[in-house]
Amino acid sequence: MDESPADFQSTGSLYRRWLGPLLEKDAGVVDAEQLTQAALGALGEVSRRRNWPLIARLLSEVARDLQRFDLSLEQTVFGCRFPNPLGLAAGFDKNGVATGVWDRFGFGFVEIGTVTFKPQKGNSRPRLFRLAAEKAALNRMGFNNNGADAMCRTLNRQELLSGSKRPLVVGINFGKSRDTPLEKASDDYAASLELLAPFADYVVINVSSPNTPGLRDLQESSQLRHLVSRLRCIDYCPPLLVKIAPDLDNEQIDELGNLAKEEGLSGLIAVNTSLNRFGLDKRVLLQTGRTLGEEAGGLSGAPLANRASEVIRRLRRTTGSSLPLIGVGGIDSPKVAWERITAGASLIQVYTGWIFQGPDLVPNILEGILQQLQKHGCSNISEAVGSELPWQQLES
Ligand SMILES: Cc1cc2nc3c(=O)[nH]c(=O)nc-3n(C[C@H](O)[C@H](O)[C@H](O)COP(=O)(O)O)c2cc1C
Repeated sequence: MDESPADFQSTGSLYRRWLGPLLEKDAGVVDAEQLTQAALGALGEVSRRRNWPLIARLLSEVARDLQRFDLSLEQTVFGCRFPNPLGLAAGFDKNGVATGVWDRFGFGFVEIGTVTFKPQKGNSRPRLFRLAAEKAALNRMGFNNNGADAMCRTLNRQELLSGSKRPLVVGINFGKSRDTPLEKASDDYAASLELLAPFADYVVINVSSPNTPGLRDLQESSQLRHLVSRLRCIDYCPPLLVKIAPDLDNEQIDELGNLAKEEGLSGLIAVNTSLNRFGLDKRVLLQTGRTLGEEAGGLSGAPLANRASEVIRRLRRTTGSSLPLIGVGGIDSPKVAWERITAGASLIQVYTGWIFQGPDLVPNILEGILQQLQKHGCSNISEAVGSELPWQQLES
């Protein structure tokens, strides 16, 4: 049967119809983690079979709906050609199962992982909580993933295109295995990186997850310098970035900015989830009956946006325009995305906002950026990075 494209319902409207009612509540029949796993399971199957005619056709409808191409959105950052500045943040596709299809959802890049050298189950459940009214989430997943070796196999099976033929940039985010002592952390990261470097356009050292005991200590200068120099010795090490926490004070942020420049890092990613509760300490989690102040885990989503912007602005001030920054945290609209770019982020990522807003968030953000570029007379997004150009209201 030949179905015309007109019969294709928009990806966003399907998402809203099926998941909208679930996402309006903190909890329901299906818990937040089960929902993500079901979606990823299906996307993994689709990614492996993406050249089968029916699946290819469906994916091209999704792509037609969600992708936006424009020369003014393209940039080369740390040697990688990004078709647009918007990526899917680490932690959604932890095992890289759907790497072959993220471009169809309109993303210019995806960061898979966090992957650890050893497979691990993560913390006990429940460990992911939706805060529907606040458009936020609390998670203490604890790097649940299948391990570096399994990720190699998963990526091989998907037969990804290589080099410039790839439709989007693929970053891999690395963490420390939970049972590896902190003193051996650099060997643990290095072992994963040695296996996975050939698949990655860029790699990220994650030293900022709040859910692996001691991990954030690796943000301390001497430890981080040691880790970075160990990883840079690896043959064919792709551009190396470090992802930092929002809970550092200004001095620590400046120190990390300077370290990144001195060590020749390719960039910094700011920020990971927060231990701060941003005034929501008394908010009760439906699933546990305990308050956010009492629960362990990192907060993401809308309440994180201001702090995440502050960190980017501070880093930009310390490092100038020579160190690329990736901004992440609470981005859920074109306006917030624009503010993050003009504060200093060359690239941005979404996670929690994308879950709440649905797949339309990607084209909405890209169109919003394009309109702002036009209003301000910029011919390329790189002119807006760090410019502090204000968001201009659009005439309706
Ligand atoms: C459920 C969940 C799991 C996450 N897992 C990871 C992870 O494995 N590695 C990582 O670097 N960041 C992880 N993050 C953090 C996100 O990549 C991002 O930095 C953070 O959520 C802020 O962005 P957002 O407000 O758009 O969600 C996770 C976030 C969530 C909500």
